[in-house]
Amino acid sequence: MSANVLVTGAGGFVGYHLVKYLVRSGYRVRAVDLHPPEYEESPAHEFEVLDLRQFEHCLIATRGIAEVYHLAADMGGIGYITAYHASITRNNALINLHMLEATRENGVRRFLFSSSACVYPQYLQKSADVTPLKEADAWPADPEEGYGLEKLFTEKACQYYREDFGLETRVVRFHNVYGPLGTYDGGKEKAPAAICRKVALAPDGGEIEVWGDGEQTRSFMYVDDCVEGIYRIMQSDSPEPLNLGTDELVTINQLVDTVAAIAGKRISLCHDLSQPQGVRGRNSDNTRLRRVLGWEPRTPLRQGLIPTYRWIEGELRKHGRIPMRAFASESIAVQQPVRTPAPGAV
Ligand code: NAD
Ligand code: GDD
Repeated sequence: MSANVLVTGAGGFVGYHLVKYLVRSGYRVRAVDLHPPEYEESPAHEFEVLDLRQFEHCLIATRGIAEVYHLAADMGGIGYITAYHASITRNNALINLHMLEATRENGVRRFLFSSSACVYPQYLQKSADVTPLKEADAWPADPEEGYGLEKLFTEKACQYYREDFGLETRVVRFHNVYGPLGTYDGGKEKAPAAICRKVALAPDGGEIEVWGDGEQTRSFMYVDDCVEGIYRIMQSDSPEPLNLGTDELVTINQLVDTVAAIAGKRISLCHDLSQPQGVRGRNSDNTRLRRVLGWEPRTPLRQGLIPTYRWIEGELRKHGRIPMRAFASESIAVQQPVRTPAPGAV
């Protein structure tokens, strides 16, 4: 079995999938979170419930660990991160600084920090027809308030720990991630899951609410690509921040059309301009990622949305929120994205 690795935030969306990937790849995985995963049991060898805002808990989490995949964060979609600037900043700053210091004290070799496209300056994201964002664009800084500013600060803290203490740090800027077993309700959900939920709950010919005019743009990354990219970046020798996303730019209205087609429903849209919208346009420039890894996320949006929609529809049905009848999307052949084994893993 390979080295002991730690995944923080393993009770969350990306963390759950990453643990699964690492266990399958032969690693011995310790998983840590405030709570176990909501939808399926974690495949981790150990799951420890810890609050990483507390330094002592970070020391417990990192004991005997060779590599830390640090995903724990107070986070959510644009509705959530614009509503709680103070608590998100406090929680994430405490988690991140304590994790870095505990990692150093316990002699961990490598530390991967899950940063975000929210670090990019708002002045570069004012047009739906946005120029894809390069890593160097993050400075001069004008990030998303609260959540984005804290991520940018921790990116720098990673750099300082590398320079001053020799800790091998990796910094990954995720662009909006979606897939099965992601939060789809309750206020923290991001656009792909929210739209899948709304379409699944709407009758054929019904109407759903869309935040903004729907012409704002994003690129979305399927979670299998995300965990493979995280792993590849951890193994790389690149300490500089790297984008991890696709460059398939779509409007939110196009996202709705794609989900409606998967559901086999005619859906009309009611645009609510009073809801949070974030930046007007955001896309990932993958030039550096391709150069460093010779790889980039490649699951087309429609392909990744099929299992995502089906999973959310199934959850809603399980909880009695959709009447028991044949799934509208059942007739669609689901093409599962191909999982490639972790390169170099035993
Ligand atoms: P998530 O909310 O599903 O998972 C984060 C997990 O961190 C949660 O399970 C939460 O309980 C845990 N956590 C929060 N506070 C904690 C604490 N004090 N101690 C221990 N655990 C704590 O989010 P996710 O989508 O899986 O995101 C994973 C990471 O990727 C986060 O750092 C997030 O900021 C980053 N990210 C995600 C996206 C995305 O689209 N999903 C985009 C950009 C960046
Ligand atoms: N959440 C949500 N719910 N967004 C909606 C909805 C809805 O029902 N309808 C339309 N939208 C629009 C939002 O107004 C926004 O313009 C766009 O869809 C994308 O919203 P989110 O997916 O919530 O967030 P984001 O892309 O602005 O930011 C997310 O991605 C970052 C990384 O790229 C957040 O999750 C950040 O936390 C993350 O770091």
